[in-house]
Amino acid sequence: MKQFSITIAGGGSTFTPGIILMLLENLDRFPIKEIKLYDNDEERQGTVAGACRILLKEKAPQINFVETIDPEEAFSNIDFVMAHIRVGKYAMREKDEKIPLKHGVVGQETCGPGGIAYGMRSIGPVIELVDYMEKYSPNAWFLNYSNPAAIVAEATRRLRPNSKILNICDMPIGIEELMAASIGLSSRKEMEVRYYGLNHFGWWFDIRDKQGNDLMPKIREHVSKHGYVTADESKQHSDASWNSTFAKAKDVQALDPMTVPNTYLKYYFYPDYVVEQSNPEYTRANEVMDGREKFVFGECQKIIDNQTAEGTELEIDEHASYIVDLARAIAYNSKERMLLIVENNGAISNFEPTAMVEIPCLVGSQGPEPLAMGEIPRFQKGLMEQQVAVEKLVVEAWVEKSYQKLWQALTLSKIVPSAKVAKDLLDDLYEANKAYWPELS
Ligand code: NAD
Ligand code: G6P
Ligand code: MN
Repeated sequence: MKQFSITIAGGGSTFTPGIILMLLENLDRFPIKEIKLYDNDEERQGTVAGACRILLKEKAPQINFVETIDPEEAFSNIDFVMAHIRVGKYAMREKDEKIPLKHGVVGQETCGPGGIAYGMRSIGPVIELVDYMEKYSPNAWFLNYSNPAAIVAEATRRLRPNSKILNICDMPIGIEELMAASIGLSSRKEMEVRYYGLNHFGWWFDIRDKQGNDLMPKIREHVSKHGYVTADESKQHSDASWNSTFAKAKDVQALDPMTVPNTYLKYYFYPDYVVEQSNPEYTRANEVMDGREKFVFGECQKIIDNQTAEGTELEIDEHASYIVDLARAIAYNSKERMLLIVENNGAISNFEPTAMVEIPCLVGSQGPEPLAMGEIPRFQKGLMEQQVAVEKLVVEAWVEKSYQKLWQALTLSKIVPSAKVAKDLLDDLYEANKAYWPELS
């Protein structure tokens, strides 16, 4: 059986230990020869890598482990890159969230002005990683979690159309786990879903069990009463702010009771409510720095200090399982059905062919085969036309270094109330992102 070599780009990510634990748990299904961590912040990666080295030594000493900031070492002789970089780290996420709030606008990691600013930072470095992979391991696959996935996906489509890149998001599967629990199923894998949208901007319109029985009526009823709040809590999305997002899905669903929505639509449908609920001095970035980052780095440091991973509270999560399922589907041509962000190309028949849409695909060794989702209703189509134009304009602005196009993108974002606010926001975001964005004119 072939053994695979994997590079985790963004080795210092808070999600790296979860992915490594997931890989270790699945060695019988997906054998591994080598795991390499790559980051451009040696010190940050050092803590995570120090702990992972000990984990591997204890659980799978046969796997070769490499920690590096050298691209050639990182990207040579590998089969997969699993990328989850955060360009500008949490310090810049905090600005993405706080600057819009100063203007009375939603401040969010991937939606609206914050997501646009983050997109302008992510495009260059993600393309750089793809180029490293193609230079040193031309047959490898690039599995990307790096956000904002919608803009990154459009950028990879536009700039590297022939590269082996798959963009994914864990929000739909996280929500599907909650749906499954709400109707008494033990796993999302007991459901087969039909879904369409853009990343962080989509709807389920058909959900069945493996025998073909329609599960939608029960799921719709639950969501219309409780949103995605269930007795079983999500492990990854467990903070109070996530719980409030899951509850708000009830009001999001009210716009089209025949479907059930992605939670991220709350930022587009209820921006006034979101701003009211936000604390401009303490946003999600602060919560994550005080929560997940402290926890993960604290646990890693403990492993290093004790020189053993025994008793660690670090654990596998759904987020990690999805990227491993994807790698397996490619490696073994399993034709597993998964939601991916792919070029529309007719799958949504009445929508822009070149849009990067999130839809079910069958995944095999040749990559994804998108499944036809047919025609979508006018309400969703109208929203998606506007949002996809924002995403495409951001990529055009980055390619052409165009201030004008970025102003258009911000003005078109449903979350931004006027061209005046868009311009004020653009000027503040540009100033804060001088070290990361191309120089605009
Ligand atoms: P994090 O800041 O803990 O980790 C990101 C790492 O990337 C850092 O160690 C940083 O030094 C590194 N990095 C930044 N720029 C780099 C570059 N140019 N080259 C190499 N490394 C670089 O962030 P996190 O909270 O763990 O999240 C990581 C990423 O995963 C983010 O983009 C986040 O939005 C994304 N994410 C996506 C999904 C999804 O659904 N697609 C889900 C969860 C997380
Ligand atoms: C979900 C989304 C990701 C996003 C993450 C933020 O998982 O799918 O795209 O990055 O939430 O979570 P956080 O805990 O960092 O706010
Ligand atoms: Mn996501």
